[in-house]
Amino acid sequence: MADNFYKHIVCIGAGYVGGPTMAMIAAKCPQYKVTVVDINAQRIKSWQGNELPIYEPGLLDIVKKTRGRNLFFSTAVEENIKAAEIIFVSINTPTKTYGSGAGKTADLQYWEKIAREISKVSESDKIIVEKSTLPVRTAEAMERILRVNNKKAHFEVLSNPEFLAEGTAISDLENPDRVLIGARDTQSGQKAMLEIVDIYKHWVSKDKIVTSDIWSSELSKLAANAFLAQRISSINSISALCEKTEADITKVARAIGMDRRIGSNFLNASIGFGGSCFKKDILNLVYICEYYSLYEVAQYWENVIKINEYQQTRFVKNMVNAMFNTLANKRITLFGFAFKANTSDTRESPAIYISHKLAEEHSRIIVSDPKALDNAQYDLKGIADCVEFELDPYKAARNAHAIAIITEWDIYKTLDYERIYQQMEKPAFIFDGRNILCHKKLYKIGFNVYPLGMPCMQHF
Ligand code: UDX
Ligand code: UDX
Repeated sequence: MADNFYKHIVCIGAGYVGGPTMAMIAAKCPQYKVTVVDINAQRIKSWQGNELPIYEPGLLDIVKKTRGRNLFFSTAVEENIKAAEIIFVSINTPTKTYGSGAGKTADLQYWEKIAREISKVSESDKIIVEKSTLPVRTAEAMERILRVNNKKAHFEVLSNPEFLAEGTAISDLENPDRVLIGARDTQSGQKAMLEIVDIYKHWVSKDKIVTSDIWSSELSKLAANAFLAQRISSINSISALCEKTEADITKVARAIGMDRRIGSNFLNASIGFGGSCFKKDILNLVYICEYYSLYEVAQYWENVIKINEYQQTRFVKNMVNAMFNTLANKRITLFGFAFKANTSDTRESPAIYISHKLAEEHSRIIVSDPKALDNAQYDLKGIADCVEFELDPYKAARNAHAIAIITEWDIYKTLDYERIYQQMEKPAFIFDGRNILCHKKLYKIGFNVYPLGMPCMQHF
């Protein structure tokens, strides 16, 4: 080896998972050389500069400390695969849109392509670590591709799912609830597993590093996301009941969350969950269950997605009902477009669905978001003629008939709503899809206020 590094790690995929995860490993393990490669040259260029391709609090600091020392970004995929002992694969795995399993199972064509590439160029043994969320038993299929095409090198495929959430990626990586590593129960499998444990041991205590077989590890990731999403659909389903019966969802959530067996996290009623993982992973789970003829189990999990869609539909229907059954030519301002606060990510954001529904109602949509406007413009290409984008929330709300809170960004909690109200059309409406505002105060200012899962406050 030409340099003095103990080992070379390469990560394929410089996205929301690969970038922050590798930056953390590089920061905690200076004796490892960590190179993140991607086929997207523009993305790699951004990682090399000061405008990172993703917004994630605290990420730039870590990247600045490690970049050029032991963290590198490159488009030279083949060369880096050759040099690495450990390869993390962190590419996106979208839901398949064609052929068998369309709409449910993961599209593994990129994974397979990468397995073939690794196998083609490798001249020495490699540990391949699945970071992407994949259907159960993908590792097995990958091993077959790797082994059939290359007899020179030994490939050990491991599963090490990522549990970080966007917006809190750096603290999640620094203080994980657990690190899960799945490996084969063979001598080489266990040896490879210890090599991955060695990396995490630099900053994660041993009792939090959990090991298992590969399939249990793969399934744990799908199940964890399904359970998290299920909590949101559960509380959202109760929010619909609250609106009809004048109960208050925040009070219900508080009371049930104080039961230690239930716990208080992930009980915020909302316009619905978004993000790249929940829907895709549940669909994967549904597909696997159907494959094994477990139809009742498949339906059970599918309903978590149905309630999520219902919640978004309900939100727009409530707007139409409240605003005298027509939104035609009315200006509706969306505060927030990202799928949650502190991220620029808009994948599967309820904002996309809501915008399209509003466009069908012939509204004029004004989108405001502190970090996600570029992604929003891309997402709304199809309805560009009825959408405007405005970074400044005060300008965005000027002459609007209604404001809808879509993302729980802190800035929306502290705006001068008196000033906003003065500049809006009357009667002025606020639909708080995240229950983050002080509803009584808004009502006093003059707004007609529609929180989620609690009684509305209207002046007529
Ligand atoms: C991650 C996980 O990998 C995915 O399984 C999970 O479901 C969501 O989170 P993420 O990091 O968010 O994906 O994806 P993305 O930001 O799209 O990054 C993936 C990167 O892989 C992209 O930059 C893409 O260019 C790159 N890629 C993809 C390759 O370099 N080669 C390929 O063949 C395919
Ligand atoms: C999720 C998992 O949390 C993470 O462990 C996994 O690795 C990837 O998927 P992420 O998608 O980044 O992470 O965000 P998360 O914080 O889980 O939020 C998902 C969605 O649920 C967001 O749209 C959020 O607004 C919504 N949500 C969350 C609610 O509506 N209510 C809640 O109480 C919590």
